[in-house]
Amino acid sequence: MGHRICPWWLGYVLASPLRRLMQDPAAIVSPYVREGMTVLEPGPGMGFFTLELARLVGPNGRLIAVDLQPRMISGLKRRLAKANLTERVDARLANEDSMGLQDLAGQVDFTLAMAVVHEMPSASRLFAEAAAAMKTGATLLLAEPSGHVKPEMFAEELHAAAEAGFTLADRPTVRWSHAALLRKA
Ligand SMILES: C[S@@+](CC[C@H](N)C(=O)[O-])C[C@H]1O[C@@H](n2cnc3c(N)ncnc32)[C@H](O)[C@@H]1O
Repeated sequence: MGHRICPWWLGYVLASPLRRLMQDPAAIVSPYVREGMTVLEPGPGMGFFTLELARLVGPNGRLIAVDLQPRMISGLKRRLAKANLTERVDARLANEDSMGLQDLAGQVDFTLAMAVVHEMPSASRLFAEAAAAMKTGATLLLAEPSGHVKPEMFAEELHAAAEAGFTLADRPTVRWSHAALLRKA
């Protein structure tokens, strides 16, 4: 995959309210998230989607947000604290080799992989780690920026997802993105 990591300062731009003009986080994730769910978000950046996910899972739900960059995690924590949502979110630092999700085996109801898979050293590894953390039948929304992820690369990602045991459930529309809803078989 691309393996070029988004610089930490871009986290502020990606979390800007202006982005809502093009991508409404509630409209994108609310079809898949219910109160009380356990949700996984690899590569949350500074939390443009995380805050909405945390609101949707409610006080009895749980969100695990895992990023490689300490400055993304600290920016995310600041925004969660401001929104009074800290207690619902387990914000974790990943390392280059793993997202460190062993403790979640078979617990996750929904995964959001938004604009992150092309930055991973291996899409296969991300899908394998997500699949291990997810319940059977749980869904994963994969969305990649259409500006710099070519259709062929997105097709390769879908192939990697299929090899990790995901089936294609839907092709939702997400502006500026290639998107697919995947289901863990
Ligand atoms: C383009 S940003 C997208 C942020 C957010 N998903 C959004 O749509 O606003 C990609 C994020 O993925 C993170 N990332 C890249 N490689 C990663 C890895 N191996 N494990 C976890 N996070 C990673 C980056 O640090 C960055 O925060």
